[in-house]
This record gives sequence, C-alpha cells and structure tokens, in this order.
Amino acid sequence: MNTKQKLYEGKAKILYKTADPEVLLQYFKDDATAFDGVKKGTIIGKGVANNTISSNLFRLLREQGIDSHFVDKISDNEMLVKNVDIVPVELVVRNISTGSLCRRYGINEGIVFGEPIVELYYKDDELHDPLMNDDHVLAMELASREELAVMKDQALRVNAILREFFDSIGINLVDFKLEFGRFHGQILLADEISPDTCRFWEKGSMRKLDKDRFRQDLGDVEKTYTEMMQRIAEKIS
Ligand code: TMP
Repeated sequence: MNTKQKLYEGKAKILYKTADPEVLLQYFKDDATAFDGVKKGTIIGKGVANNTISSNLFRLLREQGIDSHFVDKISDNEMLVKNVDIVPVELVVRNISTGSLCRRYGINEGIVFGEPIVELYYKDDELHDPLMNDDHVLAMELASREELAVMKDQALRVNAILREFFDSIGINLVDFKLEFGRFHGQILLADEISPDTCRFWEKGSMRKLDKDRFRQDLGDVEKTYTEMMQRIAEKIS
C-alpha cells in the first residue's frame, strides 16, 4: 500500500508529507512541459538527473555558505526538503542574453553582460508568470523589503558560486531561475537547480545543455540531461 500523502503536484515535481511535519519528500518526475504547459512530453531519466544535479548543487552551495531547503537525497528520484512556505516571486539571474529577455527588448542573443541582471516574476501560471519589480512585490505584500533584499543578495551569490563551478567544467551559466521559501521566519533557497531551471552553453561548441533542447526540439534531450548529471557529479563527488 502506498501510504505517501501527496501535498502538492506541480508540472515537474510532487511534494509528499513525511512523518516529520517540518520535512517533505520532493519527487522529481520525467514529465516535461514548456510554454506554460502548452508543450508536453516525457524525458526519460530527467527525474533522476534533476534530483541528482539539484542535490549536488545544493550541497555545493551549502559548503559555500548558502543554505537551502535541501536535507538529503534518499533515492534516485527523491530528496528530503524542509517544509518551506514558497514565496510567489521567481528570481531570474541572467549573465548572457537569450530567451524572453531578447524577445522582450529586441536585443541579440549571446551578449555577455558586464553585471548580471536580476529579474522578478510573479509566480502565477494562470497569469503566465508576469515580470514585476520591487514595488509590485511590496505593494502586493508578496515579501517584505528585507526578504526581497535577502533573496536578491542570495541570488547574486548563487550566481557567483555556480558560474565559477560551471566554468570549471567547461560550461557557461547563461541564466537561471530560483525560488525561495520561508522557514521559521527565515528566507531559504528552495525548489530545484537543474537543466529545467538553468541555461547551460558548452564553452567553445556553444552546444545547449539544458531544457532548451526540449523547448526548441533540438534532439538528444535525454542524453543531455544524463551528460549534465555526469559532468557535475564527476567534479563534485
Ligand atoms: P526565460 O528566458 O524564458 O525567461 O527563462 C529564464 C530562465 O528561467 C531560464 O534559465 C529558464 C528558467 N525558467 C524556468 O525555470 N521556468 C520557467 O517557467 C521559465 C519560463 C524559465
């Protein structure tokens, strides 16, 4: 009998309760969606890859002073996480222009910014996660001024750590999305850090090593997730 009690099911992950109310089980699915669920598919092995990659990156960040909801990786597809209350603001950090930034502002792809750009999006699927600024966050009381400052500061620190790490394995960290939660009054990095939520371009070849292979039908989708899992694990463990 499956006794796991489902708390929440998203597009790529399921959260289950555990015996400890402070801890949840985060299960990574092979399901993939893009463009707000308009494009749907299955990427065999994505759940294992994203769970392994996220676990390793949360460990790396913790070693470098950035705490997160990550508790432990307990199986191929599952990690234990702290039961945080997710702040409905997604932070995107961009080092190189691509994606929605190029569409929105009509600029070319591949511009390396002198300073990273931090963007805020309202986490609401029905509204298609609209771009917002600090004033919107404060006016809608999604987070306090202090919380927003902590999230932005942590996002930039995560960027510095991950950029250096990926650089050391021959990959440019182009951009990524982070989510944060509240746990006993503290802001904690949450969700996942994986090829679903980051863009990785191989240095030299410029090969895309992330979910854009699925979004843009570039092929070798499964192989790419497994390759990223292995390249990261080789360096970290
Ligand atoms: P964007 O260029 O499409 O706005 O994406 C910016 C970054 O955010 C990219 O690394 C992919 C990630 N992302 C998500 O994690 N979830 C999403 O729903 C979207 C649209 C992007």
